[in-house]
Amino acid sequence: MAGQGKTNLISLNGILGLISSFPLITYILEFLKDLVINMMKTAPVPKHIALIMDGNRRYAKSKKLALSEGHSAGADSLIQVLNTCYKLGVAHVTIYAFSIENFNRSQEEVETLFGLLRNRLSLLADNEDSYARINKIKVRIVGNKSLIPEDILQDLEAIEAKTNNLESYRVLNVCFPYTSRDDIAHSVRTISDKVAHDIIRSSDITLETLNENMYMGADTPPLDILVRTSGHTRLSDFMLWQANDRCVIEFVDVLWPDFKFLNIVSVILKWSYYRTLEMEEGYHTTSGTKEKKISSPDIYANLPPPPPLASVTQR
Ligand SMILES: *[C@@H]1O[C@H](CO)[C@@H](O)[C@H](O)[C@H]1NC(C)=O
Ligand SMILES: *[C@@H]1O[C@H](CO)[C@@H](O)[C@H](O)[C@H]1NC(C)=O
Repeated sequence: MAGQGKTNLISLNGILGLISSFPLITYILEFLKDLVINMMKTAPVPKHIALIMDGNRRYAKSKKLALSEGHSAGADSLIQVLNTCYKLGVAHVTIYAFSIENFNRSQEEVETLFGLLRNRLSLLADNEDSYARINKIKVRIVGNKSLIPEDILQDLEAIEAKTNNLESYRVLNVCFPYTSRDDIAHSVRTISDKVAHDIIRSSDITLETLNENMYMGADTPPLDILVRTSGHTRLSDFMLWQANDRCVIEFVDVLWPDFKFLNIVSVILKWSYYRTLEMEEGYHTTSGTKEKKISSPDIYANLPPPPPLASVTQR
């Protein structure tokens, strides 16, 4: 059943892609997408979504394209997904652009990846009329910057500076080069420096203190949804600290370049649906209309199955 749903969604995306090559149809499709987004705004909306965009290589291979074309297709998907998220009101999106583990790939590939990222980000944010500037998106490089070569770091920091202004109320966190364990080590190191300089006392260190000293900082809301595409079911050292009890993890069996509007919409709809039910349960239990105290595992056990549109992501 789930596999069937997935195939349908992919071919639906394909049909949407095909017919959207006609201008009038594009216009109508954009209108319909906005309609869907506006309807979704009436339900709870996540504040922060993180993406592991896996599958560009496999996509290129399966279509017999050059790897760079796979990455281009992936970049198109990212723009569509960002568009949907930001329009809907998800103000923070975090992407896993480069893992510290990737330094173990060949030097040539590492340099290609760095170059690609630099080019993509300048396309996204360099000019007045670039996507990030028009949409008031602040680009932030999140990770161990000491590992970035000087010339690339300069370019990236220029992009950060250009998009970091008071008007920017949306955030794109680009994790580069990043691993969660390095993030946690960095937080612990920062805190111990503060303790050494009597800025805080060790007895005052709480979960919140660790949170505030992560690379993403205190102004980032808790993570609501973590999506990994292409069917791999591991976190690869990403958001290990951030993906805690309130965060939903979705492993979607679709290659990243095939992950489009309908895919992100169904992930968010599912989250929204469960959040609404949770809020209703909370309402009943606190208002005393139900005697039975429901602890959170029970809430999940008692939930009805997800709506059909959202079952795509079920395995
Ligand atoms: C890279 O590979 C070396 C061995 O080839 C290993 O010792 C090291 O832990 C690896 N580093 C990372 C970051 O994966
Ligand atoms: C960041 O990278 C540097 C250079 O490899 C390393 O020494 C450091 O331990 C890393 N992590 C942190 C938290 O600074």
